[in-house]
Amino acid sequence: MNVPLLDLVAQHRSIAHEVMPAVQAVLDRQAFIMGAEVSQLEERIAELSRAAHAVACASGTDALLLPLKALELAPGDEVICPSFTFFATAGAVHNAGGTPVFVDIDPVTYNLDPQLVEAAITPRTRAIIAVHLFGQMAAMERLAPLAERHGIALIEDAAQAIGARRKSGDGWSVAGSVGWAGTLSFFPSKNLGAWGDGGMILTSDDKLAERLRRLRLHGGAKQYHHEEVGFNSRLDTLQAAVLLAKLPHLAGWSEGRRRAAARYDALLADLPRVRTPQVDPANEPIFHQYTIRAERRDDLREFLRQREIGCAVYYPVGLHLQPCFAHLGMRRGSLPETERAMGEVLALPVFPELSAAQQDAVVDALRAFYRQP
Ligand SMILES: Cc1ncc(COP(=O)(O)O)c(C=O)c1O
Repeated sequence: MNVPLLDLVAQHRSIAHEVMPAVQAVLDRQAFIMGAEVSQLEERIAELSRAAHAVACASGTDALLLPLKALELAPGDEVICPSFTFFATAGAVHNAGGTPVFVDIDPVTYNLDPQLVEAAITPRTRAIIAVHLFGQMAAMERLAPLAERHGIALIEDAAQAIGARRKSGDGWSVAGSVGWAGTLSFFPSKNLGAWGDGGMILTSDDKLAERLRRLRLHGGAKQYHHEEVGFNSRLDTLQAAVLLAKLPHLAGWSEGRRRAAARYDALLADLPRVRTPQVDPANEPIFHQYTIRAERRDDLREFLRQREIGCAVYYPVGLHLQPCFAHLGMRRGSLPETERAMGEVLALPVFPELSAAQQDAVVDALRAFYRQP
């Protein structure tokens, strides 16, 4: 049975009757730039994320770049971030004029290890970027006081974690709402995906929100007047319309992913050569990925490919080992947990439309692989 890693066609089939009229309405009005849907989406996502402001922009990458630009980094200014993440996390630091300082992860959650973050802080540290990898939040209750104590900014890269929650006192904190800024991506394969690129920045800092709104429009709040040099980084009205139509489904989709994850956990419990993902008890994840650790990972990946079972390695090479960051002087052995994860992780198909039969096919293939001599 062919099981895709993600089935956006199935998703579209189930909601086309809702999305298409929303898109048609934009076409009828021909209001493609900063149309009403953009601010509507900002309001809804600010509400969902419990942030005072949401500022839409062109991608999850720009969502990181804009607040980093607002920090006005000087050459040599450092930003602590994980190496075990998508390239944009550190690429944005570089493009904002800063130096990424890569710190190792907690091997259970794959998120920044707060103790190692503390050890990496220097007088040049200006910010920490906590990535909520695979849809599970980092230990914000430890990172936030650390950032505050050192007077540095805390940015949450919540590209993979829209709507994920973490226990906080008697309630919950929502991904992207804890730090100075939180960033989202609407890349099509994300849990809330557009029909192209898109991103958003969450913040409860009024001044930052105002600055970000300027930075995304060439640095000018008023047309043809520029307080600073900014970017062309708007979210298309068409994308906002698609996202607004999809948004009411997001909570149900996340629940569907959690259900599929729980079923995998049960089905794989007696397969000792596969370690299922561990959720920190404080977290309610959204399973952007269901990432196992597997013995003989590369052979398993090839075996699954041959059986048309979708799978992927996020991430095969940590950012500290990328040629573009070689000048930072890190090498193999610098970040042991990141490097171990690089060799062991494998993401299995997890999406709300995944059927029990498809999931059984994935599990059967895993069992068949480990039965081989
Ligand atoms: C952790 C992380 N950060 C940043 C990004 C960048 O988002 P985008 O692809 O929308 O630019 C992504 C997704 O691609 C991501 O997974």
